[in-house]
Amino acid sequence: MNYLDFYKQSIDNPEKFWKEQAEKLEWYTKPETILSENDKGYPTWFVDGELNLCYLAVDKHIQDGYGEQTAIIYDSPVTQTVKKYTFNEVKEQVAKLAGGLTSLGVKKGHTAVIYMPMIPEALFAMLACARLGVTHSVVFGGFAPHELAIRIDDCKPKVILTASSGIEVDRLIAYKPLVDDALQLAEHKPKKVVILNRKLGAKVPFKKRDVDWEALVYGSEEAPCVPVKADHPSYVLYTSGTTGKPKGIVRDTGGYATALRFSMEYIYGVKQDEVFWAASDVGWVVGHSYIVYGPLLNRNATIVFEGKPIRTPDASTFWRVIAEHNVSVMFTAPTAIRAIKKEDPNGEFIKQYDLSNLRTQFLAGERCDVATLEWYREHIPIPTIDHWWQTESGWPMIANLMGVEYLPIKPGSAGKAVTGYDIRIFNENGEELGPNEEGYVVIKLPLPPGTLMDLWKDHIRFRAGYLDKFPGYYFSGDGGYKDDEGYIYITGRVDDVINVAGHRLSTAEMEEIVASHHAVAECAVVGINDELKGQIPLALVVTKAGETIEQFQLEYEIVQLVREQIGAVASLRKVIVVQRLPKTRSGKILRKLLRNIADGVEFQIPSTIDDPAIIDEVKDEFLQHKIGVFK
Ligand code: COA
Ligand code: AMP
Repeated sequence: MNYLDFYKQSIDNPEKFWKEQAEKLEWYTKPETILSENDKGYPTWFVDGELNLCYLAVDKHIQDGYGEQTAIIYDSPVTQTVKKYTFNEVKEQVAKLAGGLTSLGVKKGHTAVIYMPMIPEALFAMLACARLGVTHSVVFGGFAPHELAIRIDDCKPKVILTASSGIEVDRLIAYKPLVDDALQLAEHKPKKVVILNRKLGAKVPFKKRDVDWEALVYGSEEAPCVPVKADHPSYVLYTSGTTGKPKGIVRDTGGYATALRFSMEYIYGVKQDEVFWAASDVGWVVGHSYIVYGPLLNRNATIVFEGKPIRTPDASTFWRVIAEHNVSVMFTAPTAIRAIKKEDPNGEFIKQYDLSNLRTQFLAGERCDVATLEWYREHIPIPTIDHWWQTESGWPMIANLMGVEYLPIKPGSAGKAVTGYDIRIFNENGEELGPNEEGYVVIKLPLPPGTLMDLWKDHIRFRAGYLDKFPGYYFSGDGGYKDDEGYIYITGRVDDVINVAGHRLSTAEMEEIVASHHAVAECAVVGINDELKGQIPLALVVTKAGETIEQFQLEYEIVQLVREQIGAVASLRKVIVVQRLPKTRSGKILRKLLRNIADGVEFQIPSTIDDPAIIDEVKDEFLQHKIGVFK
């Protein structure tokens, strides 16, 4: 098959194209209406179809005679455990948990928060919700109680599912006290908290609302799959935006199932019953789409990896997992490869493992620098595919479609537009730019199936953030350009979102926290380049007049504050005190200027700058504190 023809079909006749793909799924009611508009005037897919994600991911394979095939491989270097689950075993766990949730009064139309480490039960929890038509909201385990509380208050779960603890390399993290703290902070109080006791030694304080997971599953009947409409929200996943409040991305069911199954075959090029590994976390969109639903819908075994690319126990872990479990296709973030490369620059560990089964390596989550791509290709000479997408899209938007036609790789580019995505580059005025001209990356509506439907209970923000800037187009928040062969290069976010070790974070949110410190008069937080994590946050603060706090003390207190409020994952380590911040004459902080100075990027002095002398002041501060290129 040829990429260009296939792509053109999807753009010229999207209804025909996606109808054919949807027909590959088993629906309770086949959709007659393929593309329509919802009551808010936004394009929507397959509205009159009825299906169930859990049925398609689990029960269907059993019905087709694959019950004894491996569905989940749990590999946990931190607990030294490897455990495999067949589709039959997954179904039993999931259906009984769903039965248990039913007995707690949880049903279709309700929401549930899942706050769990990387263990199979996290998948069981998601699938049990999907089975009942309960909309789940998984919160990344690295987020602090404050973040968890914000999400609880926004999506108002009936129940929270959690575990006693997670393990961060060699540190036991007690989750239950974090959930209790979050519930103290939250206004909304769910009736029940279901806790899986991992018996790893963490404290599990008992409250009246708590329910023991094992007892619940043991005492429950299996619950059947509940059919839901295609536009039923399968989940809400919060992601960072440009304000302190995270955005609840709402995913449908029918479009999502169609897109994921399609992507497994045509983008990832995986055959049914092969082993697929996305080394991410269920708390991120990669986890939702390619640890849980995508591989299981496609009848692949998926790996649940509880560890890190390094230090669990060393930089050989990824290669061991690939070799031991016969992984055919893998997905990770470039930062993980950079971490491995730093520990094992000559790829000595790679030579110790038989990686002959590994066919393709996919990378995403952040820009993939050419050096990382080249290092990978030198040591593991297989197609190494950078591809671009977002929590919002739910599945890739720019890639090399390995199941269609393997196009030559251009390092630095994430590839070409994926089927269904009509990607354009616009200038500020909404005019389309020509080849190699950098601008905003936008996508002509309708987006293909599987992308975001709305923001949870905030349609105004949805329109304002994504649709109003360029009417008729989805605004991605990324900048980039297209070359004359249609390869797209993503140059980075054009807003206050940063990407730290593949984790999406908001500098605006960090600024709010930094500004809440009693000694701070004003501040700016910007993302600057980092060799390992891609980007890291840097805080610049101006202290209040008469404030005598020492720089090191202030830095310590602000770093702690951000760790407490967002979580260690924010990775804010550097806070510098400055006399003043660069501003426009109207008082707006010039954050991009700060970033450009730190990254050593050539820039034009903004014509609106209040006092150009500030540029040399900032450079002096960066030199003194060894920031960015001034190291
Ligand atoms: N629970 C609790 N704490 C967590 C956590 C979790 N699930 N995940 C991360 N943290 C903590 C870490 O322990 C660390 O704490 P510290 O500051 O006390 O050391 C902090 O958050 C930062 O974590 P991280 O960004 O993961 O940095 P690291 O130095 O521990 O590891 C990498 C660096 C590159 C190895 C790691 O970030 C990595 O594997 N990245 C890949 C990310 C990825 O797959 N992203 C998904 C998108 S595809
Ligand atoms: P998230 O929603 O966490 O998946 O983050 C999405 C953001 O990560 C995008 O808007 C991009 O800024 C960035 N991103 C993801 N994949 C890539 C990629 N392959 N190249 C460049 N940036 C990427």
